[in-house]
Amino acid sequence: MKYPRQLSAGANNAVIALSDTEVAKLFVGDTRSDIGSEAEKMKFANQVNDLVVRFVRLDYSEELQAEMLVMERIRPIDYRAYEVERRELWFDVFADELRELHRAGFVHRDLKRPSDLDGLAFDNILLTENGLRLIDVGISALKHQVGEKIFGKYLEVENADLEQFKEYFINR
Ligand SMILES: Nc1ncnc2c1ncn2[C@@H]1O[C@H](COP(=O)(O)OP(=O)(O)O)[C@@H](O)[C@H]1O
Ligand SMILES: [Mg+2]
Repeated sequence: MKYPRQLSAGANNAVIALSDTEVAKLFVGDTRSDIGSEAEKMKFANQVNDLVVRFVRLDYSEELQAEMLVMERIRPIDYRAYEVERRELWFDVFADELRELHRAGFVHRDLKRPSDLDGLAFDNILLTENGLRLIDVGISALKHQVGEKIFGKYLEVENADLEQFKEYFINR
């Protein structure tokens, strides 16, 4: 089913436009994902730097019978319209900011996986005029919740995914 003003839908959630500046990720009754923990992880990352999309508020739509995670609307542009030199600079900033999140105890865990079967790899990384941004902290993890050992494992995977993203982003 498509909602009015729907942007996209992954395996669990649809995302709709609320305005020019805000979108909402919808959580309906039978979803297995938890809106509260997704909001907390987003807020955690927002305190560290601007890489992860900005959390705005939690809301409930009577009309859609859905819980709404309201966030900043990102306007992506296409990598291929920009010089490789510029992409290299964007990538370096992205890698620095991601490492800063890692040091603060946040690991994204979903850089590479497509959002659904038809999705593209790296579709949670969006390029904007101001550089690369991250969305979708649905399966992100915080070190203080999962502990050193699990966090370390997640970091290994993320660092390998980051290398693959570099290849893709620069060479595409
Ligand atoms: N803040 C946003 N601004 C613009 N589009 C977004 C935003 N958040 C999500 N989207 C769109 O909705 C899609 C699904 O959102 P996402 O959070 O990745 O959910 P899923 O867990 O279903 O992958 C994204 O791939 C993107 O196309
Ligand atoms: Mg996604």
